[in-house]
Amino acid sequence: MPLRFVHCSDIHLLELAGTTPQRFFNKRLTGGVNLLLNRGRKYDGGMFQKIVAAAHAHAAERLVITGDLTNLALESEFEHVQRHLEAAGLPVTVIPGNHDAYTRGSARAHRFEHYMSAFMAGEREPGSDYPFVQRLGDVALVGLSTAIPSLPLYAVGRVGDDQLARLGRALARLRGEGLARVVLIHHPVVRGVAKPRHDLLDLDAFGAVIAEHGAELVLHGHEHRRIEGWLPGPGGAQVPVHGVGSGTYLSQKPGRHGAYALYTVRPGSVIRVYHRWDGREFVADEPDAPPLRGTGSH
Ligand SMILES: [Fe+2]
Ligand SMILES: [Fe+2]
Repeated sequence: MPLRFVHCSDIHLLELAGTTPQRFFNKRLTGGVNLLLNRGRKYDGGMFQKIVAAAHAHAAERLVITGDLTNLALESEFEHVQRHLEAAGLPVTVIPGNHDAYTRGSARAHRFEHYMSAFMAGEREPGSDYPFVQRLGDVALVGLSTAIPSLPLYAVGRVGDDQLARLGRALARLRGEGLARVVLIHHPVVRGVAKPRHDLLDLDAFGAVIAEHGAELVLHGHEHRRIEGWLPGPGGAQVPVHGVGSGTYLSQKPGRHGAYALYTVRPGSVIRVYHRWDGREFVADEPDAPPLRGTGSH
């Protein structure tokens, strides 16, 4: 059975009720005021509702969100996001982005995991949060975290050696079972894609795991623009890597539109139809997208 799902990312839902001036005595949050004011002008949370409606219209079985659900990782923001996801009316899978661990306090408290656990249910190695594996028919979603608190103006991420080792074991096991493996990660994993100070610190080590074990598809967000690339897999295979624009971005600059992508994935085949925001509604960008091959292992 194929899995039909909608991928979106970087919805950065605004919830201003919890952002009282006292919150911003925290140094890390001082820059947050400007960030929120800017976001309010350039992003529209209502577009997320339209993505949810589109997912229903497409008869998607699931909504997958690859991080940056919040802006400052405040409790009030997570409560706001949680309410939206619970009301979506279809199963949702999430992973964290750098904004979901914006402060050391939020990361230390595992705030993202606390509020989002219902959307990350799955198999994991004992004592670890990531990766988690969700088996959905012939497809396995493999959710990673690159979220680490970083200095103001930095938006770097790291998978970490331990998580990479667990990822390798999970990919090997799922490959043995013949499942189509869809890896979810917030930061781009193809070199040269991320802006400086915005990148995945252990990108090469991640690439080495994919080169050894393969995957059928890697999905990410973070750059708020459309990205297509690939990573080398085993035996000369090319593993497709797709970045989606922010789900709530009002921009009409080419490649930077608000966006979501509809996927139909089964072992041996990945079909994507990219949808971008044209200022009024989401429209399909490439209705006749040819199937993209996975690693060829199935
Ligand atoms: Fe983002
Ligand atoms: Fe990000």
